[in-house]
Amino acid sequence: MNASRVIVAFDFASADAALAFAARLEPHACRLKIGKELFTATGPALVQTLVQRGFDIFLDLKFHDIPNTVAGACRAAAQLGVWMLNVHALGGRAMLEAAREAVAASRKPPLLIAVTLLTSMGASDLADVGIAGDPAAAALKLAQLAQASGLDGVVCSAQEAQLLRRECGSKFLLVTPGIRLSAGKADDQQRIMTPAAAIAAGADYLVIGRPVTQASDPVAVLDTINREIATAADSNALSPALSRRAGEGAQIPSPRAREEG
Ligand code: C5P
Repeated sequence: MNASRVIVAFDFASADAALAFAARLEPHACRLKIGKELFTATGPALVQTLVQRGFDIFLDLKFHDIPNTVAGACRAAAQLGVWMLNVHALGGRAMLEAAREAVAASRKPPLLIAVTLLTSMGASDLADVGIAGDPAAAALKLAQLAQASGLDGVVCSAQEAQLLRRECGSKFLLVTPGIRLSAGKADDQQRIMTPAAAIAAGADYLVIGRPVTQASDPVAVLDTINREIATAADSNALSPALSRRAGEGAQIPSPRAREEG
C-alpha cells in the first residue's frame, strides 16, 4: 500500500525523460502527476506503463466541457487505471455530477477532485472574466460546489488549506502545490510552504515537482520529505487545536482512511 502523501509533478516533455526518471523512484515512496504537456506529447500509453509499474497516477488534465463530454473523458481516464483525476469546478454542478457518476460507474473508481480558481489569476484577471469580488471567497464557493456535487476534494494552495479544511470538514481531500523544502529555492512559485507547514495547514497530498525532479538524489529528497510529513502528521493528530478543526473529534483521519471511509 502506498502511504506517501507526495505527488511528484512529472513535468517532462517526453516519455523517455519521464520513464528514465520513474526508473529511479520506488512506487511506494510517492505518487506521480501527469499533466497536459506530458500527456499531449506521449498519450495514454505512458500512463498505462507507469500504472503497470505500480505507480499511483494523478491525471491532471483539468477537464472542463459540457457534462456528456466530461463524463466520457472521466470514464476513459478511469479505464487507464489512474488513482486520481481532476475537472474544473467552473464547469458547474451538472458537469461535476456527470463526472462523479462516470467515475463511480468505473471498475476501479479513481479519486475525483476539482480545480477551483486557477491561482495564476488575480482579482483583476477574475474581474475580466466576470468573477467579481474576493478570489478566496469565490474559491471557497467553488470548493463547496464540488463537495456538494460529490467530489472527493480540490486542488488548492497551501495558504487556502486551513480555511477549506475548516469549511469543508476532515473528509474532503486537499491537494496542494507550491511546496518547497526549507533549504530549497522557490523557482517561479510566489507563495510557498514547507511540507510540514502544508500538512499542519490541513493538506492531504502535496504536489512537488522540481525539488524532486531536479535533485541529484531524488530518492533521498523523497525520503526526507516523507519523514517530515510523517512527523508533521503525527503532531497534527496530537494537536488539540488541529484535531478540533471542523468541530470534529480527537483523531484526524489519514487521507487513506478518508478514501476508504
Ligand atoms: O516544480 P513545482 O513544485 O513548482 O511544480 C508544481 C506543480 O504543480 C506543477 O505541475 C504546476 O503546474 C502545478 N500547479 C501549481 N500551482 C497551481 C496548480 C498546479 O504549481 N496552482
